[in-house]
Amino acid sequence: MDMPKPIRALVFDAYGTLFNVHSVISTCETLFPGKGAALSQLWRSKQLEYSWLRSLIGRHVDFNQVTREGLQYACKSLGLAYSETVLAQLDNAYRTLALFDDALLTLQQLRHQQPGIKLAILSNGATGMLNAVVMHNNLDVVLDAVLSVDEVGIFKPDPRVYQLSCDRFGLGKDEIGFVSSNGWDAAGAKTFGFRTFWINRSHAPIEELGVTPDRVLNSLTELPPLLASQ
Ligand code: LAC
Repeated sequence: MDMPKPIRALVFDAYGTLFNVHSVISTCETLFPGKGAALSQLWRSKQLEYSWLRSLIGRHVDFNQVTREGLQYACKSLGLAYSETVLAQLDNAYRTLALFDDALLTLQQLRHQQPGIKLAILSNGATGMLNAVVMHNNLDVVLDAVLSVDEVGIFKPDPRVYQLSCDRFGLGKDEIGFVSSNGWDAAGAKTFGFRTFWINRSHAPIEELGVTPDRVLNSLTELPPLLASQ
């Protein structure tokens, strides 16, 4: 039996994996008391839904717009009156999202422990919003690349997006480890052919898509020991 090739690049999803999209709850709560958590949940789910729908119907716009439109829908659906200033404040909250507790330490550890491995983000996010949140959290020093779907004009889980990582690093699919907390993204990455690590912090059931990630981890901190033993 052929031994699996060593992983030469680890590529991370951004929103929901490294950055906690629900760190906007406090801003939502200040603007709409009592509705912060509901707004944050619906906003995220409409944002994702619109990204997939726009890919399917061939009407791509960047993730700034998808995020703004998801927010508008969520506010309307919850009966929350908003102004342009409120929308701008929430857009800005997306550029200053907090990191999950396990993210920075894991990336630093991987950087130190596996100096030869490339570390990158591959996200549906637009280049500007991604760079802003990366810089806000000082992740630029531990990452080799921040890859955005802007380059291909369609959203994950379209295979053309995952291909961007192979092209950037000149690596085969089987030499790239893809890390995501989003079950739909892990399913897309595994179907594409990546070695896939699903970070299941919330102990959610696996998505019913007929695809199983290679590893299911409870936290990003489980990655460095796994990589060290490859
Ligand atoms: C990402 C989102 C959509 O690609 O989770 O970062």
